[in-house]
Amino acid sequence: MDKVVVSIGGSILVPGENDADYISELAGMLKGISDRVQLAIVCGGGKTARYYAEVGRGLGGDTYQLDILGIGATRLNAQLLSLALGDMPDTVPTTAEETADRSEPGRIVVMGGTVPGHTTDAVSMMVARELGACRVVNATSVDAVYTDDPRVNKDAVRIPSMTITELGDIVYKEHGASRSSVFDPLGVRIAAECGIDISIVDGRNLTELRNAILGEPFSGTSVSSR
Ligand code: UTP
Repeated sequence: MDKVVVSIGGSILVPGENDADYISELAGMLKGISDRVQLAIVCGGGKTARYYAEVGRGLGGDTYQLDILGIGATRLNAQLLSLALGDMPDTVPTTAEETADRSEPGRIVVMGGTVPGHTTDAVSMMVARELGACRVVNATSVDAVYTDDPRVNKDAVRIPSMTITELGDIVYKEHGASRSSVFDPLGVRIAAECGIDISIVDGRNLTELRNAILGEPFSGTSVSSR
């Protein structure tokens, strides 16, 4: 059975509108395919993480402390998805190793962040490395990787498939400008080193997300690392 890790952005999971409906449908879809792929899910922090970071910054928090607040938000989101899956532990796994240890066919393990200094995209890649997963599906708020920011440049072209080296060229360049990138540069490095493919898909489109998780053709960007 294929092992697949899903990195699901907090902005997808809890944008602040009909969140219970979406999380419940997502959980139903994941459970429905859990006999076909062995799944581990890593949840991002979204709005909650950004809000706590903003308030923490106002209180004089340093980068390390703001990251700790962000990690707290990712774990809260992981608890929500665990609740919807009907298996909410008192604490979610705090390391990639713990998630890999708890993972088994038919059991969906959900976690958030680990330690300061990276994002949950990187965590999802660490889990994939531990598990020996063939791909990480990045369920995000953009529907694909583009040649430029499509919100700013109307000539930006959608890229249906690319190599990990090409994705690296984009994220290493972007990372100089801001911390927000299409995929965490550390995650891209691990994917390249370990030969783990990345599928980037609109996480609100559950049909395409399901296709991407199952390794079937999907609308989004396929990043090949092999
Ligand atoms: P996210 O993974 O949601 O990061 O973690 P992000 O890139 O800001 O979110 P998206 O992808 O745009 O939705 C939220 C914050 O939590 C901290 C970081 O500060 C991150 O920005 N964090 C998270 C860590 O320090 N370590 C982790 O393992 C995870």
